[in-house]
Amino acid sequence: MINIGIPKEIFPGENRVAAVPETVMKMIKAELKVKIETDAGLSAFIPDADYDKAGAEIQPTAASLFSESDVVLKVQRPLDGPDHTDEINLLKEKSVLICPLSPMRYPDLLKKLNAKKITAFSLDLLPRIARAQSMDILSSMSNLAGYKSIIMAADHLPKIFPMMTTAAGTILPAKVIVIGAGVAGLQAIATAHRLGAVVLGFDTRPITAEQVKSLGADFVSLETTHEAEDAAGYAKAHSAAFYQQEQNIIEKYLPQTDVIVTTALIPGKPAPLLITEAMVKQMKPGSVIVDLAVEQGGNCELVEPGKIVIKHQVVIIGVMNIPSTMPLQTSQLYSKNIFNFLNYILPQLKASQFDFTDDIIKGCLITHDGETIHPLLKQAVNL
Ligand code: NAI
Repeated sequence: MINIGIPKEIFPGENRVAAVPETVMKMIKAELKVKIETDAGLSAFIPDADYDKAGAEIQPTAASLFSESDVVLKVQRPLDGPDHTDEINLLKEKSVLICPLSPMRYPDLLKKLNAKKITAFSLDLLPRIARAQSMDILSSMSNLAGYKSIIMAADHLPKIFPMMTTAAGTILPAKVIVIGAGVAGLQAIATAHRLGAVVLGFDTRPITAEQVKSLGADFVSLETTHEAEDAAGYAKAHSAAFYQQEQNIIEKYLPQTDVIVTTALIPGKPAPLLITEAMVKQMKPGSVIVDLAVEQGGNCELVEPGKIVIKHQVVIIGVMNIPSTMPLQTSQLYSKNIFNFLNYILPQLKASQFDFTDDIIKGCLITHDGETIHPLLKQAVNL
């Protein structure tokens, strides 16, 4: 029988867990044995007793958990532990690892995974196709991060979002700009609109105009064409002149804006700079910027990773790993995505034979049997 292992996450501030009792039961129903490190769910408010009831075996240490697991499910890439226990060293030789690994950002992982002949699936590379939607961790996490970005903005704004007519006078609605209308941006737009704000959405991909408008916001065209996106639907990088022009367009709206949420990303590249210091100076005192692109360098020149700062009387929020601030539901969604992936590869896992031509497997399998498999990574390693 295949042993599935769920370690306690050791990334600082990570509160999520890769399996919840519901997905443990699903794994057991699929004839898998589930082992979970003690307190793995504690930061997500899921006690060991709930995992025990679901049928998981509680392991006392990370070392015992890893040494007995054929497949390890994680939220964060493997790290060196606080006691200098390298999680990759703890993995059983030839075992399977499923988690986001961001291998272009952390290429050193490849050598270490190959040294132990780990079959590693990097879920952040999963193709964004309809067939893989139920496994799409990026969408699940971005969706909730988009919601939380507005809650954080509302909490720091020295005013309320909705219009209110009171006996003491009328309060006008807050004005919110969301830059980047991908999964996070669209949820930020929907949440700000639900709270009663007047919302504007910007994106370089013209296809997003309809999506933005359907959520009750106005769309600001950046005068790009459909060539603004690649075959996978992601935004392409533009020239410095384009970004200057975009800044000029955004700038016109700044004096009337209360909140800006930035989510603009280009896969594999640093986030584009869209809000300069000079632009921040033009905002009203007390306005708020939430930079969801902070982990890729940020869209705002003044954002500080992991911090909430006030600069030129504007609150700039650079909170990192926002999904971890809602661990109960992000763990639920994440664990369902990862279970759906596991279930998809299960027949191949049981047969110890992977179909390297399958789009889903081909898209996210990065190492196998001591070799780097993914074509993009092979290219990068050779370079
Ligand atoms: P992302 O997180 O990579 O980027 C966020 C947004 O920023 C994107 O909408 C992008 O166009 C925009 N952006 C980039 N540069 C910009 C700039 N200079 N100014 C303004 N906006 C800028 O995107 P995410 O949320 O991961 O989704 C990207 C796309 O992937 C989706 O819109 C869709 O086409 C596709 N997708 C497909 C899915 C499926 O079919 N299963 C699921 C989710 C996404």
